[in-house]
Amino acid sequence: DLNYDVCIVGAGLSGAVLAERYANVLHKKVVVIEKRSHIGGNCYDYVDEQTGILMNLYGAHLFHTDSEKVWRYVNQWHEEVPWIRWDHEVRAVVDGKLVPVPVNINTVNSLFGLNFRNTSEMTSWLNSIQKKCDGNCANAKEMAESRVGSVLFQKIFASYTKKQWDKDASELEPLVTARIPVRNDFDQRYFSDRFQALPKHGYTKWFERILRSDKITVQLNTDYFALKDLKCGKTFFTGPIDSYFSKEGLPKLEYRSIRFEKTVLRNSGFFQPASVVNYPEPNVPFTRIVEYKHFLWQKSDFTVIVKEFSTDDGEPYYPVPKKTNIALYDKYKELANEAEKKSSIFFVGRLATYKYINMDRAILLALEMFEKIENRTR
Ligand code: FDA
Repeated sequence: DLNYDVCIVGAGLSGAVLAERYANVLHKKVVVIEKRSHIGGNCYDYVDEQTGILMNLYGAHLFHTDSEKVWRYVNQWHEEVPWIRWDHEVRAVVDGKLVPVPVNINTVNSLFGLNFRNTSEMTSWLNSIQKKCDGNCANAKEMAESRVGSVLFQKIFASYTKKQWDKDASELEPLVTARIPVRNDFDQRYFSDRFQALPKHGYTKWFERILRSDKITVQLNTDYFALKDLKCGKTFFTGPIDSYFSKEGLPKLEYRSIRFEKTVLRNSGFFQPASVVNYPEPNVPFTRIVEYKHFLWQKSDFTVIVKEFSTDDGEPYYPVPKKTNIALYDKYKELANEAEKKSSIFFVGRLATYKYINMDRAILLALEMFEKIENRTR
């Protein structure tokens, strides 16, 4: 029987949250169609067979949010799939030194041989080096320099940005560097959000739990576009918007991807002092190394390190924030609006809206979409 109240394309965070809401709140019959062999979308993680280490397949995923609503939502199944507080920290190798990222007092002291001891010394130094552009920053370079000045921009951001996007920061939209955090204290945490945590048993187990319902059918290894005879009351599409409208003759949207290079080392300790170490300098071909064993204090006689290389081809990860791409997306968005009116299909999530969104935002947008369409508030 291929008749469903709700069809959801994609078993990532956006799709899973919508499936859970329709099944548990409205008792609708839901099918989730996923072309990969697993649920979880890009949050998918697994226990590596050789080492027993829990790791992500599509890059490290650190959950952080300031939203009470999102935090309450993810904790609903706390007894089975609890979340553990995790304050993420990142280091960068710059001038042969390992320094904290975001830039804080220790970063500046270490790179410039200074001896700032408090917030007011750091604040006045930052004020003296920032090249303010006050809401009129023309591109990502100017925006970054307005936050960290030219020298730190060159040391930490210029080549990293070039590696990540294969474009100069001056060619990218200011929003790319608009949220570079800079600290005027000794806080070493990567995020400042109130809630920062990792799922104790991993993201995939959390997804399994939220999708567990006799109202939900999950169909893996299935491309939505290859399905015939599926009948849906409503459809939520979380795949790439340009794949949905591929017959409309518009150019494809541009994405950056990542090639992950995994190495297993026999080492009962650690390879590097933090889970993530960035390599912003131009002579190193990768952008960062992730050592998963750090997350939630795992133990193993081995360790796994994953080097990340930014590439043009591969899975679509990051929309490239350039004016031409944003204008092209707007055309797809018009098609999406028309389709929404005609046939109860909704476009949701990072690929269908061509926006980089963090996990908490993906959850919030899915919850809000459910509430808006079904006229419900929680
Ligand atoms: P997602 O891509 O997860 O899911 C879409 C699903 O649709 C996929 O499983 C895909 O296979 C499926 N699909 C597509 N086309 C289909 C078709 N035709 N038929 C069937 N299925 C189809 N966020 C954060 O908060 N902290 C972090 O540390 C990170 N880290 C991070 C690292 C990297 C490398 C990336 C790329 C992203 C992050 N994120 C993140 C962001 C996070 O991954 C993101 O918020 C969620 O994955 C969004 O979930 P979606 O469901 O929208 O997309």
